[in-house]
Amino acid sequence: MAQQIRVLGIESSCDDSAAAVLTVDDQGGADILSSQVADQSLLHAAFGGVVPEIAARAHTEKLDIVITAALADARLTLDDIDLVAVTSGPGLIGGVIAGVSYAKAIAAAKDLPIVGVNHLAGHALTPRMTDGLAFPYLLLLVSGGHCQFLLVKGISDFHRLGGTIDDAPGEAFDKTAKLLGLGYPGGPVIEAVSVNGDASRFDLPRPLIDRDDCDMSFSGLKTAVRRTADQLAAAQGGITAQDQADIAAGFQNAVADILVDKTAKALAIAGRLNGFAIAGGVAANKQIGDKLRTLAARHDLPFVQPPMQYCTDNAAMIAYAGALKFMAGQSEAADLIARPRWPLDISVQPMLGSGKKGAKA
Ligand code: KG4
Ligand code: ZN
Repeated sequence: MAQQIRVLGIESSCDDSAAAVLTVDDQGGADILSSQVADQSLLHAAFGGVVPEIAARAHTEKLDIVITAALADARLTLDDIDLVAVTSGPGLIGGVIAGVSYAKAIAAAKDLPIVGVNHLAGHALTPRMTDGLAFPYLLLLVSGGHCQFLLVKGISDFHRLGGTIDDAPGEAFDKTAKLLGLGYPGGPVIEAVSVNGDASRFDLPRPLIDRDDCDMSFSGLKTAVRRTADQLAAAQGGITAQDQADIAAGFQNAVADILVDKTAKALAIAGRLNGFAIAGGVAANKQIGDKLRTLAARHDLPFVQPPMQYCTDNAAMIAYAGALKFMAGQSEAADLIARPRWPLDISVQPMLGSGKKGAKA
């Protein structure tokens, strides 16, 4: 008979404080009993990006609230929980410490086992949690902090085939929106204004597209957007709503082209697969999702796009990954530490020159 446990998951590695309660069995089956996310975007909006110190403070306030809400929503108390799973890296260290400390306190008070989960493993295992996708599969993780192709072969067997060498695409969406004066977060607003834009008006670059590997770069694209906007502003004394829409559409098209081209290359080197999945906030983009779905169909591969609330940061994926790790006998003792950097695949070199803060993984 399959082993089954009830797990409380906690996530606080970026700008979402999240908690979830799941029942997970050792065959990979999952029942998500509750999943709560307290979004901090309003706190960071004025800065056009996540401010680590503000995020860490907000986590210390919000974790208690989301954990209480997740238990209430599942109609359970801590006495019904068998395991605490918490994101212990990679991420903004203040937030990770807040989550790990909270998880340790619960585990100590209730004498529960605790397991530290790699945030990226949570994303990587999500298509299995939501759609039962069998190993091996290819995952493209595209968010504000991450951008990589992962060949997912088992619950702790991940191979990174490539990733960004500078910005993550979500970061590029956010920065482009900021310089066009469109607000934060950038992805949804760029997508909305692009509908009225002419993507072919400006010639924007597709960096690294002529290379055979599946590494990506978005920083040159962002610079080209800035140059285009500056030139227009200098020539016209400002940019119009139509200029904004045309630049946004051209930018979105360029990101979609890069992701499609590099996914084709990743599929070519991945070997036999049971499916291709996407995750991360940028996966919410319809144009990008549609183009990747078409590509998967051309390769006769099932395409999995988990429900949006599990594509973006959440604690259900952390509970799930933690439960599988625990049932496989891979849990840590209560001295688990918070880690700002934690590559999933240590067999490949960390990405060089990755962004201002360096590669997270
Ligand atoms: O996965 P996520 O919620 O958080 C992390 O970064 O881990 O992703 C947030 C990112 C933001 O940069 C946001 O601009 C981007 O995802 N995003 C989008 C869309 N919705 C959110 N990018 C493009 N199109 C969208 N519709
Ligand atoms: Zn994430």
